[in-house]
Amino acid sequence: MELNYTLVFTVFPYLCLATFVVGHAYRYVTDRYGWNARSSEFLEKKALFAGSVFFHWGIVFTFLGHAGGLLMPQRILDRFGIDSQTHMEIAYWSGLAVGIAAFAGALLLLKRRLTHSRMRAVYRLNDTVTITALAMVVGAGLYNVVFGHYNVLYSVAPWIRGIVTFTPDAMLMKAVPLSYKNHVIADWALLGFSPFSRLVHIWSAPLFYIFRAPIVFRRRAGQS
Ligand code: HEM
Repeated sequence: MELNYTLVFTVFPYLCLATFVVGHAYRYVTDRYGWNARSSEFLEKKALFAGSVFFHWGIVFTFLGHAGGLLMPQRILDRFGIDSQTHMEIAYWSGLAVGIAAFAGALLLLKRRLTHSRMRAVYRLNDTVTITALAMVVGAGLYNVVFGHYNVLYSVAPWIRGIVTFTPDAMLMKAVPLSYKNHVIADWALLGFSPFSRLVHIWSAPLFYIFRAPIVFRRRAGQS
């Protein structure tokens, strides 16, 4: 029993993390020109806009919420007057909002990819697997928000902190409901798969764009 937990909640996450790190390095060295979001905007714009906007805003805030909510120990939040009850309420309402946006966006993107004639003409299994996996992971998370009502602060949260600080304790996951276990296992699997998909574009977010000085374009004197 303990061995199974160690395999699933310690060995498997580190395998996925190692694949994530080595996979990105390998992809960068071997496929630098393929390192992009493979935008299909020039093929179809309307459905992409709705799906992509919902999905991207939803998923980026989902990431931030997971990072802030799970990696920050409750005792630190207590000092700022955010007790575990308030923490769970914030997590519920914000998780509901961003989860619905990300899930709806992922379904719209998937529908576009599978039903639009131009998108079908450039069909790639990898793209469909990526969006389906994202929809499943986000859907599983949203299911937990709506139906789970389980306090993750004293089990899943310290477990994930143990993984990132190299002090893993798989037994923290023992009492966690199955739907939460499925969600975290799917998360790790997606992390391990991501270097081999278009998700590499996440690490090339053009953040410098926000801070760089504006570029001024002027016509040459005499040009109309
Ligand atoms: C960090 C900031 C991000 C930026 C600047 C960004 C930018 C882009 C751009 C320019 C595209 C191509 C045009 C489009 O399809 O909308 C795209 C597509 C995509 N992005 Fe992102 N992205 C970001 C984060 C993410 C994250 C966190 C995920 C998922 C974990 C993600 C998943 C996707 C997917 C699945 C597509 C393909 C959509 C489709 O064509 O069906 N992106 N992204």
